[in-house]
Amino acid sequence: MSELDFTVRGESGPALLLVHGFPLDRRIWQTVAAKIPPTVRLILPDLRGHGKSALPPGPCTIDDYGRDLLELMDKLSIPKFFMAGHSMAGYILFALHRLAPDRIAGGALVSSRALPDNEDGRKAREATAQRAEKEGPGFLASTMPERAVGTAPPPGVLDTMRTVIRSANGKGIAAASRAMASRPDATPLLPTIHCPTLVVVGEEDVLTPPAASEEITRGIPGAELVIVPRAGHMSNMEQPTAFNLALARFLDHRV
Ligand code: MLT
Repeated sequence: MSELDFTVRGESGPALLLVHGFPLDRRIWQTVAAKIPPTVRLILPDLRGHGKSALPPGPCTIDDYGRDLLELMDKLSIPKFFMAGHSMAGYILFALHRLAPDRIAGGALVSSRALPDNEDGRKAREATAQRAEKEGPGFLASTMPERAVGTAPPPGVLDTMRTVIRSANGKGIAAASRAMASRPDATPLLPTIHCPTLVVVGEEDVLTPPAASEEITRGIPGAELVIVPRAGHMSNMEQPTAFNLALARFLDHRV
């Protein structure tokens, strides 16, 4: 387990965990978090080896990232919570649906996918892991942001992403790459998810294309899909107003 660094806002009300993806940290939620009503208790962690959270020694699996979140919720005495997981954190939300389904009041899978990596994908993850261990995060800071946004990202989004990735931990990137490479196929899990689920994807997402979100939506009973126009992989940063609206509508019915 890893003790996570986190920000919490509010002491009561329904708990909403906003969890960033790879190789980012809680700063990607800044604009979205500012617009979430104060009646919601908001928790923004940095995953192990990301942002300000330490990386425990040794390899880890996607389930370990999930167990860290459960431990954080225990520490805050929150038995049941909503979670929005961006991309890699969508894989972690799937892990939580396997590990502790009774603790999830509702989930938002943001730009994620159910299928595991194929052989080429796993090789590419290992190459990323080895390079990050040797060189640190610089190569990702100069390549990933452009691919992660749509054709017309609002000013500041690319710079924020570059800043966040440049400050990432090379070993944390390596551990996450390997954990993602070994994650199981979540497809068989989909029909067993019975809590309210929102699926969000940017219409221009090339990293986790809308087809992957459509597949998740078809698999989870009652899941709702929102495709955010004029956004790529980072719809929460690129179109925060549309993103917040989707999240607010989803939560409004349930809290
Ligand atoms: C992410 O945004 O977390 C990553 O793109 C997920 C992945 O590489 O599969």
